[in-house]
Amino acid sequence: MKILFLDQSGKPGGAELCLIDIAKPYRHHCLVGLFADGSFKSLLEQNEIPVEILTNREIQVRKESSLSQGLASLTQLLPLINKVATIAREYDLIYANTQKALVVGAIASFISRRPLVYHLHDILSPEHFSKTNRTIAVSLANRFAKLIIANSQASKQAFIEAGGKENIIEIAYNGFDSNLYQISNDEIKKLRQELGLENKFIIGHFSRLSPWKGQHILIEALAKCPENAVVILVGDALFGEQEYVKKLHLQVTNLGLGNRVKFLGFRNDIPQLMSACDLIAHTSTAAEPFGRVIVEGMLCGKPVIAAKAGGAMEIVENGVNGFLVVPNQPQELAIVINQCMQEIEKTQTLANKARESAIARFDVEVINQNIAGFLRNLLQV
Ligand code: UDP
Ligand code: GLC
Repeated sequence: MKILFLDQSGKPGGAELCLIDIAKPYRHHCLVGLFADGSFKSLLEQNEIPVEILTNREIQVRKESSLSQGLASLTQLLPLINKVATIAREYDLIYANTQKALVVGAIASFISRRPLVYHLHDILSPEHFSKTNRTIAVSLANRFAKLIIANSQASKQAFIEAGGKENIIEIAYNGFDSNLYQISNDEIKKLRQELGLENKFIIGHFSRLSPWKGQHILIEALAKCPENAVVILVGDALFGEQEYVKKLHLQVTNLGLGNRVKFLGFRNDIPQLMSACDLIAHTSTAAEPFGRVIVEGMLCGKPVIAAKAGGAMEIVENGVNGFLVVPNQPQELAIVINQCMQEIEKTQTLANKARESAIARFDVEVINQNIAGFLRNLLQV
């Protein structure tokens, strides 16, 4: 099966990291076409997945675009659409991994007569997308996609509520290789030393710095925690959220937390860093479509506190394999962090269970087999 994958991003967000795992089994028969250059390309190359940058023009549509902006950018896309349609003739199907990839892939699939698969990584709700963008995504998916793979029940549900067809949707959670998340005690000790946080209770937050990822909620909660609790914020502003980064630094200064919050920027050693933490916090203020970081924390055998909405509720069962707190409530988050700090053994037992359940539910081999089954059905091979 020859697949042309399309993704708009040059940077490795969760949807892109997920695509690496999906494309890997097809690396001898696929191409990943990107609409921007950047470190995602290098990651694909490291994984020996063929990749090509298909345009060097920036695509202007943003999550909150109006109809006129949307239409204007569609005309800009014509050369790219033609290029994709020509390449697609060499492949059995087009696999669009992001919304702009859907726009380009939909029209290219019509021209090249190749079936379109859309991997839906987003919750198409008003809190995440403008009405125009939701309408464009749903209309194109309904009209052109032969199959939609949603990253969670929550993403599937929001798609249907936005007017999406129900009968072409399958669900595939992100898959993980659990071996990558087993880190030795020596390595953990060394990393804690390097961070200068050997005797601290480390709360890790792993996410791009963006208002809806809610780093500010964790900082506010930290002010209500004992002095030996510290926070590491791992991630960068991937999509231009510099104002938010400034706000976070200001918040830390104003709360007098300068020596208790570390900004580590984007890192490639997530399993190691997570393993060096005592607790992982996920604090998205809008419903998280899936939440890779929640599963990764569990695979590291760390207690995870997640914001109770969207995909997080499909991953975490409160008090069984993690904790769920109401989004946007720093006070509630602080109470649960304090509890975890006091009940270390009980919390660790729960984290061990979490690890077992994450290994069983999110095995990348099993999830890839499921996806391969969906694609075979589509092509009837
Ligand atoms: N991540 C990373 N380096 C960082 C911060 C995050 O590699 O510095 C990874 C993280 O481990 C996770 C992904 O980025 O696999 C983020 O995916 P998630 O689904 O949690 O959120 P998204 O950013 O896609 O909304
Ligand atoms: C998107 C979502 C995130 C999800 C990831 C992988 O980036 O925001 O919640 O985990 O895709 O499906």
